[in-house]
Amino acid sequence: MKHYLQFNDLSADEYTYLFERAALIKKKFKAYDKHHSLVDRTLAMIFEKASTRTRVSFEAGMYQLGGSVVHLTTGDSQLGRAEPIEDSAKVIGRMVDLVMIRTYEQTKIERFAAHSRVPVINGLTNEFHPCQILADIFTFIEHRGSIQGKTVAWIGDGNNMANTWLQAAQLLGFKVHVSTPSGYEVNAQLAMGADGASASCYQFFSNPQEACQGADLVTTDVWTSMGYETENEARRLAFADWCVDAEMMAAAKPDALFMHCLPAHRGEEVEADVIDGPQSVVWDEAENRLHVQKALMEYLLLGRLA
Ligand code: CP
Ligand code: NVA
Repeated sequence: MKHYLQFNDLSADEYTYLFERAALIKKKFKAYDKHHSLVDRTLAMIFEKASTRTRVSFEAGMYQLGGSVVHLTTGDSQLGRAEPIEDSAKVIGRMVDLVMIRTYEQTKIERFAAHSRVPVINGLTNEFHPCQILADIFTFIEHRGSIQGKTVAWIGDGNNMANTWLQAAQLLGFKVHVSTPSGYEVNAQLAMGADGASASCYQFFSNPQEACQGADLVTTDVWTSMGYETENEARRLAFADWCVDAEMMAAAKPDALFMHCLPAHRGEEVEADVIDGPQSVVWDEAENRLHVQKALMEYLLLGRLA
């Protein structure tokens, strides 16, 4: 049994399969061609933080595969009344086939997985957001072909998305230029192990404009992630120069793409003319959550299919 708690829980070879499978599933979806590979299977979705895309893509995706879903939040389950996560995992895992969790610390999802007899998927933690990077790389491949050897510029907070980009770069063989304000650096060791900070796929730039130079993809995220709202004002000040604008996009390659996992704040981490401009692929990126996660759920439950 496999869990998907971090991007590097799967190999490069497994990603090749998943991207091909997601493309097939997407093509069938667009043609209204039924794809019922998970009939009678049930997914439990546990949300301890808010969500639009993750909720809709997992819920719609599971129904489209012929299965069903159970939706739980901290507020409407015993998770909010201090039932141990280990006990919750043992019980929920006896009733469903698959669990998706969005929570705070990565250790929490790891504890759940350690006591679950069914696969567990990370739907975002403070440290990682692997399903989003799965969708982002699939989107890059759709628009530009293989990401191997390419350069991704990460502008802004050294958060769950940034950590996951580093893991993906190490595994799939591309570069990440990271530019964050001082005090908000990416955790290269957490993402890539003890030697992470010196990994050849990772380069730090104090100047965001320089980080964009020669990039094939420029990407950013909110200045304040969920769970860090008390830091909002301090972050507004610290991140003022880390707003992706036309000048940064001009420093990247002429055919560079722009991505943002959404939700976005125009005028903060990105200017409206960039996110709503011709290089932006954010709507494809959001839609692709549906297709890649269908491929992922199928893979975790059924393995490789012909
Ligand atoms: N990108 C993303 O995970 O969006 P939600 O928070 O809406 O799920
Ligand atoms: N980094 C953001 C991503 C939201 C999808 C957060 O954790 O809130």
